[in-house]
Amino acid sequence: MKRLSGDSGIKEAVARLRRGDIVALPTETVYGLAGDAANDDAVRAIFAAKGRPADHPLIVHVASAADIERWANPVPAAALKLAEAFWPGPLTVLLKRASHVSTVVTGGRDTIAIRSPAQSAFHRILTLLDTGLAAPSANPYKQLSPTTADQVIESMAGRIDAVFDGGPCEYGLESTIVDLTGSTPTILRAGPVTRAQLAAELDCDVALPAAHQVAVPGNVQAHYQPGKPLYRLSTARLIKAGIRAGFLIWSDDAAAAIASHGVDTAQVIRLPAEPVGYGRGLYSALHQLDHCQIDEIRVEQPPADDHWAAVNDRLRRAEG
Ligand code: TXA
Ligand code: MG
Repeated sequence: MKRLSGDSGIKEAVARLRRGDIVALPTETVYGLAGDAANDDAVRAIFAAKGRPADHPLIVHVASAADIERWANPVPAAALKLAEAFWPGPLTVLLKRASHVSTVVTGGRDTIAIRSPAQSAFHRILTLLDTGLAAPSANPYKQLSPTTADQVIESMAGRIDAVFDGGPCEYGLESTIVDLTGSTPTILRAGPVTRAQLAAELDCDVALPAAHQVAVPGNVQAHYQPGKPLYRLSTARLIKAGIRAGFLIWSDDAAAAIASHGVDTAQVIRLPAEPVGYGRGLYSALHQLDHCQIDEIRVEQPPADDHWAAVNDRLRRAEG
């Protein structure tokens, strides 16, 4: 797989995308597998490379809020308000699809998911192309999302030809998805933009259902999974004798418990005790633990409050 970078890499990515090829690109959330959203063949190539069922819709990435009306109709005031506040950035809005938009990218639906990514290379490429880019996370279906170009190369080798290396992703967790097609804005996937931030901006209640009926593959229980079994455990139940485990912890208590049991420190990863730093490191930590000589991954359960919603959502699905 060719690794692109710098100005020449941006040029090459644009040329490839223009002719209908797909290219893995960095975003501020995770790496995406990008193709021209207005070109059905390019969109089909994305589904094929990922091994994703054709009825699981893709997010369309746009340069700015001015592009929403090219893809959605009607454009509710709430969408413009949220775009103004959080774009470019890690927020996806779900709207009604404009009638001319192909249902290949929407997985056959009448709705369309749209976001404007902040990552500078991706943003530059969008501006040069003057189209939308469909981009799911750049991993095979159901596996862990990549947060570095190396992880893309590892999991997508042989499936795609090029990745633009923009370094590690700023957030490391997929965008928040908010459904604006109903009477109450509803979070379909928790992410870096929190429920409290959305509610403050819209000045109304925002729902964050534990489960919902809108079929989102990220909503499939077994998703975002490492190859090894993963268990979420309270700090007190973290240590278990007689097994080869890798540990993902955040608290002093867990670190002390592990130290007193003499666990091999190469298999212990400690993430920050706050949700943004923890989220940034989560997928890389899981990738790393997946490569250790261990039988299972034991994760110290993070706090339950709303600020940790995105982290807890991904850990719940990683457990399967
Ligand atoms: O941060 C992100 O959102 C990343 C980066 C690359 O932008 N993209 C991403 O895409 O996570 P993907 O395809 O892995 O997840 C997008 C989610 C899926 O669960 C998909 O089903 C949902 O968005 N989605 C897209 N269009 C939808 C629609 N019309 N109705 C319901 N869900 C939709
Ligand atoms: Mg994904």
